[in-house]
Amino acid sequence: MRVAVHGVALTALAATALASSSLSATPTRKVAKRHNNFVSTSDGKFHLGGKCFFHISTTAYWLAQLSDDDITTTLTAINATGIKVVRTWAFNDVTEIPPNNGTYFQLLANGTVTINDGPTGLQRLDKVISEAEKLGLKVQLTLTNNWNALPDTSSASLDFPSGFLSNAYGGMDAYVRHFIGSDGTHEQFFRNETLITAFQNYVTAVVQRYADSPTIFSWEVANDPRCNSTLATAPDCNTHDVTNWVNTISSHIKSIDPNHLVSSGAGGFMCTTCTKLFATATPAAPSASPSAGARKKRAVGSLFTPAKVLSMRTALLKKWREDAKRNPRSRGAGEVKRLIRGRWAAPENRRQLSPDVQGFNGAQGVDSEDIAAIPNVDMSTFQLFPDQNQYMGVDSADVDPVTQAIDAGSAWIKANAMAAANAGKPSVLTAFGLVSTNSSTHFVPFNQSSVTVADILNSAVKTVGANDTQQADAYRQWIQAAMQNGVSGVGQYQWGQTYNMSSTSPIITQSPLAPATGAGNMSLLSPDDGYAAFQDQLKTVLSDGATQQSALNG
Ligand SMILES: *[C@@H]1O[C@H](CO)[C@@H](O)[C@H](O)[C@H]1NC(C)=O
Ligand SMILES: *[C@@H]1O[C@H](CO)[C@@H](O)[C@H](O)[C@H]1NC(C)=O
Ligand SMILES: *[C@@H]1O[C@H](CO)[C@@H](O)[C@H](O)[C@H]1NC(C)=O
Ligand SMILES: *[C@@H]1O[C@H](CO)[C@@H](O)[C@H](O)[C@H]1NC(C)=O
Ligand SMILES: *[C@@H]1O[C@H](CO)[C@@H](O)[C@H](O)[C@H]1NC(C)=O
Ligand SMILES: *[C@@H]1O[C@H](CO)[C@@H](O)[C@H](O)[C@H]1NC(C)=O
Ligand SMILES: *[C@@H]1O[C@H](CO)[C@@H](O)[C@H](O)[C@H]1NC(C)=O
Ligand SMILES: *[C@@H]1O[C@H](CO)[C@@H](O)[C@H](O)[C@H]1NC(C)=O
Ligand SMILES: *[C@@H]1O[C@H](CO)[C@@H](O)[C@H](O)[C@H]1NC(C)=O
Ligand SMILES: *[C@@H]1O[C@H](CO)[C@@H](O)[C@H](O)[C@H]1NC(C)=O
Repeated sequence: MRVAVHGVALTALAATALASSSLSATPTRKVAKRHNNFVSTSDGKFHLGGKCFFHISTTAYWLAQLSDDDITTTLTAINATGIKVVRTWAFNDVTEIPPNNGTYFQLLANGTVTINDGPTGLQRLDKVISEAEKLGLKVQLTLTNNWNALPDTSSASLDFPSGFLSNAYGGMDAYVRHFIGSDGTHEQFFRNETLITAFQNYVTAVVQRYADSPTIFSWEVANDPRCNSTLATAPDCNTHDVTNWVNTISSHIKSIDPNHLVSSGAGGFMCTTCTKLFATATPAAPSASPSAGARKKRAVGSLFTPAKVLSMRTALLKKWREDAKRNPRSRGAGEVKRLIRGRWAAPENRRQLSPDVQGFNGAQGVDSEDIAAIPNVDMSTFQLFPDQNQYMGVDSADVDPVTQAIDAGSAWIKANAMAAANAGKPSVLTAFGLVSTNSSTHFVPFNQSSVTVADILNSAVKTVGANDTQQADAYRQWIQAAMQNGVSGVGQYQWGQTYNMSSTSPIITQSPLAPATGAGNMSLLSPDDGYAAFQDQLKTVLSDGATQQSALNG
């Protein structure tokens, strides 16, 4: 091991002032009062500097892996589109110290947990924050990840550089493997006090470090927390596990840092039949210093009854039948003609008219309505990845799959915006993406560490099948749907950046697969899991959206 590590042992953490950073909290932990440069919430909206803060965001989870120059290049390019918030990973758990001064934030090895706040550790995140600050960007910091597929060492698969994929940064399953073992189950991260304490120690180190920084937009407790993950989960894991855990962690964050907003990072799944822990609670008496949003919190029940879900799904099917009548050629090629005796026959649609679908049946262990009602959760979040999840759970032979993905995505946006409004909190689409056929050769689903050429040829990795124009159209329509429904933050996943060959960042690479963007080998590319937006036409969509969102801010 040739790397000088400036580690903080777990046991010594409480006593450590984390004083090495100019951005760290004062040793007394007395944080500065929230001021005009901090984002706040009221009336279900974000506010900043006396105005609303509707915004477009993007994810660049890999920023802290970059050299100083590449951090500047990337953030400058993001800022130039008018994007206001950058989402990045504020966790990076490893089991071995990476070679060549590679970035890592926490070492889980040999029974100990060591936080790295040195030059290869959290000081890299300091650099990201200080560069963002210079540009006037806000940063959303994500504290852990649901997904952590281990590298596939079989020779048939393609190797990605360490940290290339979003799920290669440790996260929940890294804690489970460390504390319990490789046969441990995912829900232990939510249930086991040892793991909860270890995670809270890490959260303390990061949150204290930036508690006074107006550059932090919010703390995202986790990317996409759910019962199911890469490791197996207990059969009885349910929505209460995730909701209780988000409550515990959000309360912990607020106890250290009352300045900043907190989000769950959950995927937006609802549960029509689940009992609620928070959503039906009587309103709490206003506490000493709640955010304006928390003060406004109402006692709400569940908006999403089975009947409500059925009516949303019926509306989609009806729209598609009408689209097909108006324009029969919009039907998918090779579909059977389904107009029988003057009526549009849809025998399979009857089967579909059950509320038992991933978006609303709680099977992921996520109940967004309940999570949004947690007092220390300031916003209601959701994601949209039609290549990886079912949401509305309807499909139709009447129109092509891309149109269906776009429309169902817009309906999902509307459903989540309604849930947020019902909770009286801002709605945030944390991350959305659609894989295009051009980028599908790069597509690695969040629960995988590799794709093999055979996977691609066998279509084992399925995509909706959009071409580049349709992908851009989907992004435009989803941003419009979000704006029409009052969604406050709209996050494209993920940023794509080209760099000159002079880049020294290990994460920057010529993709292991041929670059899909036409950039060729004259430049190096940022990580691409199939969603990276390199194309000008996607950046134009984001830029147009940013202009429209900022117009709402007055
Ligand atoms: C950042 O973007 C804003 C527009 O949103 C622009 O006015 C500003 O000049 C940009 N800053 C830099 C340093 O490029
Ligand atoms: C863990 O312990 C083994 C055996 O003592 C040692 O070889 C290894 O370097 C240790 N790993 C780390 C990451 O410290
Ligand atoms: C790691 O960083 C140290 C100084 O921070 C430097 O002396 C050393 O050469 C670096 N090692 C590599 C492999 O880059
Ligand atoms: C929690 O995890 C620890 C291992 O770190 C284990 O010893 C303990 O038995 C677990 N607790 C429960 C209740 O499973
Ligand atoms: C994720 O992948 C692992 C390994 O292939 C699998 O066992 C697990 O069931 C998958 N989880 C989900 C939620 O699909
Ligand atoms: C999710 O977890 C449940 C409970 O263990 C299991 O029955 C189900 O098959 C899992 N789903 C996936 C996709 O892994
Ligand atoms: C993309 O698909 C649409 C709909 O099928 C088609 O009209 C368009 O020509 C395609 N564009 C490209 C660039 O292939
Ligand atoms: C794929 O990308 C190339 C280069 O950007 C573009 O010319 C082509 O139209 C794209 N194809 C489709 C089907 O979108
Ligand atoms: C890359 O190199 C070109 C040509 O030398 C230069 O114009 C451009 O500014 C460079 N871009 C970056 C990000 O350094
Ligand atoms: C591009 O890649 C080809 C094949 O790997 C190589 O021969 C060529 O030198 C590369 N060009 C540049 C400018 O790097």
